[in-house]
Amino acid sequence: MTHELTATSLASASSNATGNGGWWRDAVIYQVYVRSFADSDGDGVGDLRGVRERLPHLARLGVDAVWLTPFYVSPQADGGYDVADYRAVDPLFGTLADTDDLVRAAHAIGLRVIVDVVPNHTSERHPWFRAALAGEPGARERYLFRPGRGADGAEPPNDWESVFGGPAWSRVPDGDWYLHLFAPEQPDLDWEHPEVAEEFASVLRFWLDLGVDGFRVDVAHGMVKAPGLPDIGRGAQATLIGTEPLPFFDQDGVHEIHRSWRRLLDSYGDGRIGVAEAWAPTSERLALYVRPDELHQAFNFRFLTCPWDPEAMRTVIDESLAATASVGAPTTWVLSNHDVVRHVTRYGGGARGLARARAAALLMLALPGSAYVYQGEELGLPEVADLPDELRRDPAFHRSAGQDGLRDGCRVPIPWAGGGAPYGFGPGGSWLPQPADWAGLTVQTQTGDPHSTLELYRAALELRRALPGLGAPEAGRELPGKRDPYGMRWLPAPEGVLLFTRPGFACTVNTRGAVVELPSPGRPVLSSSPVATDGRTVRLPADSCTWWAI
Ligand code: GLC
Repeated sequence: MTHELTATSLASASSNATGNGGWWRDAVIYQVYVRSFADSDGDGVGDLRGVRERLPHLARLGVDAVWLTPFYVSPQADGGYDVADYRAVDPLFGTLADTDDLVRAAHAIGLRVIVDVVPNHTSERHPWFRAALAGEPGARERYLFRPGRGADGAEPPNDWESVFGGPAWSRVPDGDWYLHLFAPEQPDLDWEHPEVAEEFASVLRFWLDLGVDGFRVDVAHGMVKAPGLPDIGRGAQATLIGTEPLPFFDQDGVHEIHRSWRRLLDSYGDGRIGVAEAWAPTSERLALYVRPDELHQAFNFRFLTCPWDPEAMRTVIDESLAATASVGAPTTWVLSNHDVVRHVTRYGGGARGLARARAAALLMLALPGSAYVYQGEELGLPEVADLPDELRRDPAFHRSAGQDGLRDGCRVPIPWAGGGAPYGFGPGGSWLPQPADWAGLTVQTQTGDPHSTLELYRAALELRRALPGLGAPEAGRELPGKRDPYGMRWLPAPEGVLLFTRPGFACTVNTRGAVVELPSPGRPVLSSSPVATDGRTVRLPADSCTWWAI
């Protein structure tokens, strides 16, 4: 499979993001879950050459950068988030040369490339953990090994639960326990050990020297644990998405690590960035990760978890903007990723879920800041709920006896073309089965169909570049404490409708399941569902978002 690559410069491709103090401030960044994007060699698993061959899709979509999920050597106990060698590519995904080719090809068409780094834990197959198990002197100090409690130390050292279910501690044959906030195959590192920080600085340099534009920092809020590893207390539930303060997440000490990483990124002097995957209890706590001397962005998961409710949405938007503006950072907007149920399904599924998902996408792309698009959301893909248990790979599913199997259904391989599976995903099959009714959702089918979700995303991204009031923040936004750095204003609107303006632009969102009439805010330029307007009054369709030139 070959695709023509058009050479443009990075500067021109990111035109609305340059000259404003940093390309990432309003960038649209596309998440590629490598295993499920495109398979070049027919083994049913996506790979780096597959991504390279499909770069024209991303260029045509109009995104600024791509984030690649982990492709490093790994036993794949958690989809590659269990890394055994941080400087080598897993043969499943290709070679280092393939990575180099991909980065160059992406740069040649104006796309930046961000890669994942997984610093909270290694794989149990990492040489450091093997040395720890083998009893090599000092090797256990790089991890969090502790003696157990109770008779013969048979009880775990504390009451912490793994995010994937079950105790966060496993016992090794000689009786010691080690901490794993995720699966037992993912032992947590002890970031107080100087070699850990040194090693990760060297890993970051390795990939930066290869030419990547930055890192998505996995579990960026987890690397430092409360001193003494205290119990949470009976009844407390340890979850990734919780709002409770927990002794293993969002500890103040993590910020020192991010500061040192910022210095390292800045030393390259050319816009390399770090984005934190940090689940913090409030927008204010999250903003601490993007202070001027820390990382550049943090995923705004409050937007992702917000229900389809106008008051809740407005609150999240206002609080997110205020919190990030107070530290001079851009806000990010995220609707989906590889860890959550796809938003078409979260918003109710079917035609209604799709209508809301399309509206939410236009809302997200109208807001000031940077937006993340998860592969397949531009196709309106729903969650695949009926996967056979034996094919599921998510450790959370298997550790929670099927109660919590939420992460395979959003990882089903992308349908590119054709009338049946694997829909052009690759020359072989696909590691998870694709639904029989996805022929209408392929890139090929949706291309050129003005009503398709793909064409909606393409049009929205094109307009976002073209309209001066969108995307590009106004000068002066970096002033700490300035509450309205983007000239964004809420206007009064009928119940259930959100209406805001930005310079030269207005956006309406009708969250109600019925048509709502209001005075026309301007000239409609894009809508998630067809709007009827006579120039004075507009009938907003149910569950829709419209962009207006004013
Ligand atoms: C992050 C990743 C998730 C992974 C976990 C442990 O939340 O997004 O996929 O399971 O970290 O590394």
